[in-house]
Amino acid sequence: MISVSEAGEKLNKYGQGHVLSYFDSLNEREKNVLLKQIEETDFSVLLSAKNDHGEDKRVITPIKALQLGEINEKKDFYKEKGIKALREGKLGAVLLAGGMGTRLGSDDPKGMYDIGLTRHVYIFMRLIENLTEVVRLTGKPVHLFIMTSEKNHEATTDFFEKKDYFGYDRSYIHFFRQEMVPATDYDGKVFMEAKNRIATSPNGNGGWFSSLAAAGLLSLIEKEDIEWLNVFAVDNVLQKIADPVFFGAVLDGNFECGSKVVRKNSPDERVGVMCLKDGHPSIVEYYELTEKLMNEKDENGQPAYDFGVILNYIFSVKALLRIMNDRMPLHIVEKSIPYIDENGELKHPEKPNGHKYEKLVLDMVELMESCVPFEVEREKEFAPIKNRTGKDSVESARELLRLNGYEL
Ligand code: UTP
Repeated sequence: MISVSEAGEKLNKYGQGHVLSYFDSLNEREKNVLLKQIEETDFSVLLSAKNDHGEDKRVITPIKALQLGEINEKKDFYKEKGIKALREGKLGAVLLAGGMGTRLGSDDPKGMYDIGLTRHVYIFMRLIENLTEVVRLTGKPVHLFIMTSEKNHEATTDFFEKKDYFGYDRSYIHFFRQEMVPATDYDGKVFMEAKNRIATSPNGNGGWFSSLAAAGLLSLIEKEDIEWLNVFAVDNVLQKIADPVFFGAVLDGNFECGSKVVRKNSPDERVGVMCLKDGHPSIVEYYELTEKLMNEKDENGQPAYDFGVILNYIFSVKALLRIMNDRMPLHIVEKSIPYIDENGELKHPEKPNGHKYEKLVLDMVELMESCVPFEVEREKEFAPIKNRTGKDSVESARELLRLNGYEL
């Protein structure tokens, strides 16, 4: 392990000397924990982090989406194609559950949140129920890879164990942890979450494939001949997973990637929409969408940038392997980060107080040769839980579940 002076040198190089402020007050064991963390932390990544609000010079043009009308016409054909490939075990599912869910404000992993009223309806349970529906249809279990982070791994795995995996075949569920990155104040100084621990947070949802590989799961993917991965967010309780129609459409069009999308509520809705950037499939964030693009129409008089992403993608494993070693940018995200103050007391700020650094799935989409936006009905497939109340909250998700005939 590195010595204190080596640790000091490394920290000073990145302007993080304050990390050793409490060092002298620590016992030997605590000192070693901190030295080990300093040794293992790559502070250089913080310097290369990218502020999204900077100018992007790439040319944005519309991308052709597969829309509801066309999908409905070919539904049976797509479905049959998807079911056949699912029976052959060609698709695996990846649940992104490494996030901290700070906006929801529960200490437990988000998936453990109980949205039931007269009975228990955990978010994880809802997702497994949806996946189970497909398994019933095909007769073949889908391998489910669950990404956790250092912060919620134990709680997540214990919960699944306690709930007997909600009846899903345990041998088809595989957990893996994502990597962590230090969190900083607005000046880029890392926060301390204890006197001997730098505050860290999960490195965003875009690192999932490299984390899956680092966990040694690629051999399973190869052995099981899984050619596609359906990656999705934990917080959409109407999330359709391994949807045969979506899968069939991606296969039929020979795309490297498919992205489920919903029509925007209004031109200025705060959601990322699919587009082409310099001819590559991409996502333009709402704050990048100029007034002109926002109101642009396609040849049918429909808004040209109208399909918002809902964090449900199918990627070809071959394409993922190709891009695996490409360096993905770290984005700067404003969040509330627990930290210890000058008296060593742990604070949980209500409002954002600094930056986390995250890789994003949308950067993977940009590296794909092709990606088809696949339209789904918002009311049937999109009920995200982000906040405690109001928009995208437990209340709004409950309402949508009820509309879909779900008893809570
Ligand atoms: P969000 O962007 O909503 O982030 O994640 P979050 O951390 O869960 O919530 P807030 O912003 O702190 O309130 C979208 C999806 O990506 C996953 C989340 O678990 C969720 O499924 N995610 C996010 C990860 O798996 N890892 C991360 O580092 C971040």
